[in-house]
Amino acid sequence: MENKHFDTKAIRAQLKRTDYNEHSVPLFLTSSFVFDSADEMRAAFNDESDDFIYSRYVNPNTNEFIQKVCMLEEAEAGFATASGMAAIFTTFMAIVKSGDHVVSCSSVFGATHAIFTKHFPKWNISHSYFNTNKVDELESLIQPNTKFIYLETPTNPAIELIDLESVSAIAKKHKLLLIVDNCFATPYLQQPIKLGADLVIHSATKYMDGQGRVLGGIVVGKKELINDIYLFGRLTGPSMSPFNAWVLSKSLETLSIRMDRHCDNALFLAQQLEGQEKLSNVSYPFLTSHPHYQIAKKQMKAGGGIITITLKGGYEAAKLFMDNLKLIKISPNLGDARTIATHPASSTHCKLSEQERLAVGITPGLIRLSIGLEHRSDLLNDILDSLANLP
Ligand SMILES: Cc1ncc(COP(=O)(O)O)c(C=O)c1O
Repeated sequence: MENKHFDTKAIRAQLKRTDYNEHSVPLFLTSSFVFDSADEMRAAFNDESDDFIYSRYVNPNTNEFIQKVCMLEEAEAGFATASGMAAIFTTFMAIVKSGDHVVSCSSVFGATHAIFTKHFPKWNISHSYFNTNKVDELESLIQPNTKFIYLETPTNPAIELIDLESVSAIAKKHKLLLIVDNCFATPYLQQPIKLGADLVIHSATKYMDGQGRVLGGIVVGKKELINDIYLFGRLTGPSMSPFNAWVLSKSLETLSIRMDRHCDNALFLAQQLEGQEKLSNVSYPFLTSHPHYQIAKKQMKAGGGIITITLKGGYEAAKLFMDNLKLIKISPNLGDARTIATHPASSTHCKLSEQERLAVGITPGLIRLSIGLEHRSDLLNDILDSLANLP
């Protein structure tokens, strides 16, 4: 599979056939696996064989999903989890210990921010945030006890970009791990490991599923790091279910064509909405007006499926805009075939203080639009009609 194109790998990588010669991979709904002898079972538990043991550890379906994501991200190994947050938390817990410090970009998903600020202190783990617009200040935040640098790019929801090669050079200089949440870009648009990341995390709930059906998460990267994460996960139980892995592995077969359409639709809408009189800002990585346009061009194949718009009328206008939408639905998810509108300040990021929100670009008038796969004219008309009905 090494020399095949992304699309071919995503479709053709699959488990070996069973005796029934099925074409499409079956679902292995089994909690445990059997052994021909007591000694075979002993060998499996003692890492002397790769036999499946128990689905909390790994199952054929999760294994297929992991192998596929590893191929797409060009990673050595991976561990699949029940959700994106389970992947993030399991990774952190397997790596850090009491007394450690981490550096992260300040603009991170709300639940990740809550882990850093509310839960890490309970275990004597501290953090420092670097401003996404001031990556040159990152180095000054590194302490002797710093363990890793963590970042999202593009960030959720502010759609800011961070130069992966620059941060990776800093991480290498200080012998720190670089962990990247690649959820917004997917491996089709951006491959952080090729740019120097040690571990890449996904909420598979988003574009990997692509149809808003199942939750899932995955962390992939260097073998020895993944082994620590796997051993921790195998003990503590955040593992992905075989059913979700089966759905997600099949979804990956269409990731590239879905992402092409998400990106085309999003760029078209961003261009059409820029300059609308009721909006003070439209943000999309591949708009030439985006402050990080050059970084986006350098490390992403296309701009992704998320745009943000900012209503001049603030929170009241944002609420009314969302309520006026007919085709586009109000929901917290993203990466779905159906276009979704989210108001981060009152939902996904409501647990941050107003000051914290403003510091990462989440203003009261900001709306995140996860652009789906519908016809772009229908989406544009829905948005324009909603704007036209604002006072
Ligand atoms: C960037 C990012 N990372 C992680 C997560 C968490 O993923 P999950 O909801 O699958 O736990 C999300 C969810 O929205 C996200 O947007």
